[in-house]
Amino acid sequence: MLEGERGYAVSKAMEILVTLGKIYGAQRLIECTSAQISGVSYKNIGDAGAQFLWDLAQKGAKVVIPAYINPSAMDLERFDEMALDQRFIEGQLKILKAYSKMGVKTTLTCTPYHIGVEPSRGEHVAWAESSAVIYANSLLGAMSNRESGVSALCSALTGLTPYYGLHLKENRVATLLVEVKAELLDPVEFAVLGSLVGRIASNRIVAFKGISPDKESLKAMGAALSSTGAVAMFMVERVTPEWCVEPSAEKITIEQSEIKEEWERLGGDATPGDVITIGCPHASLEEIKRVALLLKGRRLKKPLYLYTSRIVKSQADNLGLTKIIEEAGGKIFCDTCMVVSPIDRMGVKSIDVVSAKAAFYSPSMSHVNVRLAKLEKLILESTEAM
Ligand code: F3S
Repeated sequence: MLEGERGYAVSKAMEILVTLGKIYGAQRLIECTSAQISGVSYKNIGDAGAQFLWDLAQKGAKVVIPAYINPSAMDLERFDEMALDQRFIEGQLKILKAYSKMGVKTTLTCTPYHIGVEPSRGEHVAWAESSAVIYANSLLGAMSNRESGVSALCSALTGLTPYYGLHLKENRVATLLVEVKAELLDPVEFAVLGSLVGRIASNRIVAFKGISPDKESLKAMGAALSSTGAVAMFMVERVTPEWCVEPSAEKITIEQSEIKEEWERLGGDATPGDVITIGCPHASLEEIKRVALLLKGRRLKKPLYLYTSRIVKSQADNLGLTKIIEEAGGKIFCDTCMVVSPIDRMGVKSIDVVSAKAAFYSPSMSHVNVRLAKLEKLILESTEAM
């Protein structure tokens, strides 16, 4: 492959993978079963990224394993509601056309695990979206390093990934042990814990004691850990499939007062935003149910945008959840999110979020102010009975 027997694109992809393998001290490459590729939003990769992907597709690049992509900068069915100009729309469509031509499935979601892509324990994958990588390693027991959009694409084109880091069982050991002495109940509180610990952990594997998060809280906490830090895996005692702590691991304790400080740092209970945004990472069906239940029989006094994958939205449609949300005045956007779409072009200056990851990235990436709050509070204060 490296010598070009399978064409230009495969040879280039191998060159990149071999170089990365050498940098990280990998002894060899191994086969992986899927690739999840970031670098999809035109807002983030622009014309240069679009042209790079288009050239690759024109040169005959084709994926050899199932490959999926992250959200784009717009909802493909309602981009006319997103205040985008023609140039922007064409740029985004060129990116998607290039991925399609290469055989990538245009799933446009950061939560492939909510649409049936759930690698099993011990399965090697090459995923790029940081919140999906940490979910796969921590909750599913699958094995992935934090790939870049380019390296995940190279794996998609070759079916291979360098064998180092979290692909090796002996490296899946926590070197930071966190004893939590705070009462955390809501997913957003676990996300705040993740945000705080992510900054302390940097790129280490973290093990938590003293918490019992549910699945939604684990997802929110992982997304935050992988945003403020480069954490690719965490463990929770008696909860996650793997639990292995280095005897010499650094031990820290997190108190309630530190959670409160982090909450405030993330814009907790700041000035109310123009729009409520939910779904970072993309909402699951369960999360949409929670929103619909709170909105049932009520009318929103300000816009509410919920972001999810198209597949999960169609499940929500079938269950009548979309209808409840829309009757209340909310909108469900697919294929995109509040961070990778240019939400500021819609005249939005500030947003309410329930996600520590969105609170962390939105001010710099979307140029909006952020308020972090619990879902119940946001919906109750922004609605009235019909
Ligand atoms: Fe997903 Fe966008 Fe958040 S890609 S993890 S919803 S920033």
